[in-house]
Amino acid sequence: MTSEHGQAPLDTSQFDTFLEGLDYPMFVVTTCALERAGCLVGFTTQASIDPPRLLVCLSVQNHTYRVARDASFLAVHVLGPDEDRLARLFGEQTGDQVDKFARCSWRAGPGGVPLLEDCPRFVLGRVLEQVPLGDHVGFLLQPVAVESSSSVQGLTFEDVEGMSPGHPA
Ligand SMILES: Cc1cc2nc3c(=O)[nH]c(=O)nc-3n(C[C@H](O)[C@H](O)[C@H](O)COP(=O)(O)O)c2cc1C
Repeated sequence: MTSEHGQAPLDTSQFDTFLEGLDYPMFVVTTCALERAGCLVGFTTQASIDPPRLLVCLSVQNHTYRVARDASFLAVHVLGPDEDRLARLFGEQTGDQVDKFARCSWRAGPGGVPLLEDCPRFVLGRVLEQVPLGDHVGFLLQPVAVESSSSVQGLTFEDVEGMSPGHPA
């Protein structure tokens, strides 16, 4: 143990020793306000059972965050095992420089939110709250629509861990 209980806070590398090797699902989160946006997101979790709630954490550096601030809905897509290309498009490119939606198939959902045609499993959430969490902001979502025509298990952090984010967190 490197620190007494309740004493000095750990730095990021000390905290990393806890996180190292833990795997978790990856999602593509899309949204629309004045423009469309979307990025690869690992910091997403169910946050309540009843009522159903999902928490999506967006880095304040990201183009997606800047658009999501003014959005009413986010769509959270599971990436199938063959969706490496989509993972790279949304995780390694930034909407500050490229139009990701010119490079993939999508249709407009409620509020114009892009729904990715190659992801048959997604949930659409209404943004209830935005909570500052540090270098990320938490978007608390109330699920309002779901499509789950595939039981495919999604890509996980382990599958994409070598990728270079389009924006440093
Ligand atoms: C493995 C991995 C996990 C990531 N997790 C998150 C995340 O949880 N939240 C987030 O906002 N960005 C995350 N990113 C970073 C964004 O996907 C990336 O910086 C993207 O290029 C931002 O695009 P944008 O500027 O168009 O929003 C992650 C990237 C990778 C490669």
